[in-house]
Amino acid sequence: MNKATAIAHSNLAFLKYWGKVDRDLNLPVNNSISMNLSEAKTITTVEFDEGLTSDEIFVVGQDDGVTPSFMRRTTKHLDRVRALAKIETFAKVSTHNTFPTGIGIASSASGMAALTLAATFALGLDLSEPQLSALARLGSGSACRSIPGGFVEWLAGSTHATSYAVQIAPPDHWDIVDIAVAVSQKEKAVSSTDGHELAEKSPFFQARLATLADRLNRIRAAILECDFETFGQEIEAEAISFHAVAMTSPNITSSTLPSGIYYWLPSTLDLMLSTHEWRQDGLPVYFTLDAGPTVHLVCRTQHRDQVINAVLEQEKASSHLSDENWTIFVNRPARGAYVSVKGATYSQ
Ligand code: PMV
Repeated sequence: MNKATAIAHSNLAFLKYWGKVDRDLNLPVNNSISMNLSEAKTITTVEFDEGLTSDEIFVVGQDDGVTPSFMRRTTKHLDRVRALAKIETFAKVSTHNTFPTGIGIASSASGMAALTLAATFALGLDLSEPQLSALARLGSGSACRSIPGGFVEWLAGSTHATSYAVQIAPPDHWDIVDIAVAVSQKEKAVSSTDGHELAEKSPFFQARLATLADRLNRIRAAILECDFETFGQEIEAEAISFHAVAMTSPNITSSTLPSGIYYWLPSTLDLMLSTHEWRQDGLPVYFTLDAGPTVHLVCRTQHRDQVINAVLEQEKASSHLSDENWTIFVNRPARGAYVSVKGATYSQ
């Protein structure tokens, strides 16, 4: 067999990966914790073919071809898999996402996890879950968290082999949902790759790091104990701490932008403040934010519809802040990456 299809879910970090100790290996400065997202999947088929003279990469529905950077990243990752298998055969890759781009959910996490599993499985490489996770990490740091299922911790490690993600709890452990509210579709001004690089230049970087070990323990424990209030307070404080570092990192990528990296838009802050008001009114919901203006509202399933209604009301009330419509995308905890072979499935 030289062909396989793999499916991987993207993930949302509750304790963020921000800053690297090794740029080439994507070794992070700290452990991070995330949840796989049920509706945000990448489905990728890889077929190695002796007859090919180069890799052929297709994104389903994108008839005008893939971007040069997508092509480069995919080929580079296939090279890593080829090196492991000690072959030089090129591959045909066909991939698609079940979720739109520009809504604040990283397709690089699910994309690199699915590519890693499809390519290694197609070549019959017998990798353990930690080995697969470490390999996915080389393609995109947060992709390592999309290999195990459910609630996941990426152990920072200090070498390639020791930096991988493990499951903390399975997807059905806790019925929480992520209600992602994309307040803008515009591309962010500073990529997360640049953000990671500039983070350590913030005067608050070390201060944030000093708090992370304890926060990691509190978030992990809150997940294991399904303690929603502690969990919510910790993930909100963590998101603010991460953005405080970003906002105080010198933005050397542009001379016209302010000197820090601002991922928030007015509607982002508006939703963050509304979340506090909703809580005061008795609705248990908390936010987290990645490197972009999308607000991820986290609540228990029983409060999902109430939160969505509150967001819809808020969109109307704050229409003066932006002329863009908001997009709402709801996710439950999801399984890890898996292979689909001729109807049968192989789970990680
Ligand atoms: O995997 P990257 O390089 O796109 O970095 C992800 C950074 C955050 O989304 C902001 C945090 C995280 O842990 O996912």
